[in-house]
Amino acid sequence: PSIKPWGGRFTEPTDQFVERFTASVSFDQRLYHHDINGSLAHAAMLAKVGVLTTDELSKIQEGLEEIRAEILSGRFEWSVSLEDVHMNIEARLTDKIGITGKKLHTGRSRNDQVATDIRLYLRDELALIVIELSRLQQGLITLATREAHTIMPGFTHLQTAQPVTFGHHMLAWNEMLERDYSRFQDCAARLNQCPLGAAALAGTTYPIDRHYSAELLGFDRPTENSLDSVSDRDFAIEFAAAASLLMTHMSRFSEELVLWTSAQFKFIELPDRFCTGSSIMPQKKNPDVPELIRGKVGRVNGHLVSLLTLMKSQPLAYNKDNQEDKEPLFDIIDTVKDCLKAYADMVPAITVNADVTREAAMRGFSTATDLADYLVRKGLPFRDAHEVVGKSVAYGIAENKDLSEMSLAELQTFSTDIEQDVFDVLTLEGSVNARDHIGGTAPKQVLAAAERALARLNLR
Ligand code: ARG
Repeated sequence: PSIKPWGGRFTEPTDQFVERFTASVSFDQRLYHHDINGSLAHAAMLAKVGVLTTDELSKIQEGLEEIRAEILSGRFEWSVSLEDVHMNIEARLTDKIGITGKKLHTGRSRNDQVATDIRLYLRDELALIVIELSRLQQGLITLATREAHTIMPGFTHLQTAQPVTFGHHMLAWNEMLERDYSRFQDCAARLNQCPLGAAALAGTTYPIDRHYSAELLGFDRPTENSLDSVSDRDFAIEFAAAASLLMTHMSRFSEELVLWTSAQFKFIELPDRFCTGSSIMPQKKNPDVPELIRGKVGRVNGHLVSLLTLMKSQPLAYNKDNQEDKEPLFDIIDTVKDCLKAYADMVPAITVNADVTREAAMRGFSTATDLADYLVRKGLPFRDAHEVVGKSVAYGIAENKDLSEMSLAELQTFSTDIEQDVFDVLTLEGSVNARDHIGGTAPKQVLAAAERALARLNLR
């Protein structure tokens, strides 16, 4: 086992099991790139304030860049006895450049180092996540525009309620994703403060320039309080919460896609390349991708609860507990990116069976509210109109006829206020076209809403 960077006060080597148990290098090595960037900024700051010479700085810079190349090409040997990504890289730097390597950690602790690394890492990952999110929104808006005139039943309680347009339904999903986007933006803005300089917990005695290292790393400013800096993981929890909500939205979307591809609904077709078959039932085409995404929300919600529970009751300042933040955080990032990619690729390729959705809207008396509104326009109070239409629906159920399939004479048995013009409102097109206001389902409104959504997307 290698010599520990902190070994000075110890009189026996670390227990083998404890070494493995306390190590994080197996999973935190994915922070290497940001760890090196953080070290480069710290070293440049130390040189600026005269703690390192410019010669020492160049040696450190060269050494760290060589290490980055070694890791990238898979030549770097990670050592569990060096515990984590930070000490692995620092030890390698000292191997390479000798005594100068040992000066890098001046005025720094792994506590402010790791807090910086995770923020930098998450900041980059957030940037990738919102790109995929935007790509999915683009797909939804395209689909909404294409299907702005396609009529389907709208549901409440999963019972046919009123006709809506397919495009309108897609734009509902887009609204959720737009809020998810702004939550990720909030999170990115709040996390962008630099903990470097907090050192272990109290700050450091060197004449450091925290503004300078913050600026080099693209942070808005240094964090305000050293104790908070090394212990805060709010940004990770906040990200997890935003991710949970995104996944909740994706699972709702998935549930509908799964329903809609079933033989009983048949509203849509998913491209074969996004589905799988059954090893026993030759006829099967299963919507595995939506099903899996519906399921993945479980692990993300679990990770959110892990992170909240990890932080709960922790005294100030840094505690080793926080090493447990990484695996949940990384898994959320991986999961969200994969799910967004799958849907961003798949959604534009959804095809809608417009005949089927139209036919479904015909069943279930989806224009009953339109008939009631028609009677109100003819002078009936709404409650009376509701009663009249209820009676005609009961008749329709008995006769197996939709309202639009009844003759004028039949309809007039329920109210003499009904005239020939009733058929304008009883048709599906009449129904959706009549909801002609901002946020309404009329195709005209859907097209305008899609255009506005696209304009907002293009402003990002
Ligand atoms: N691997 C540690 C973590 O992830 C780094 C910080 C350790 N600091 C310490 N004093 N042991 O939290």
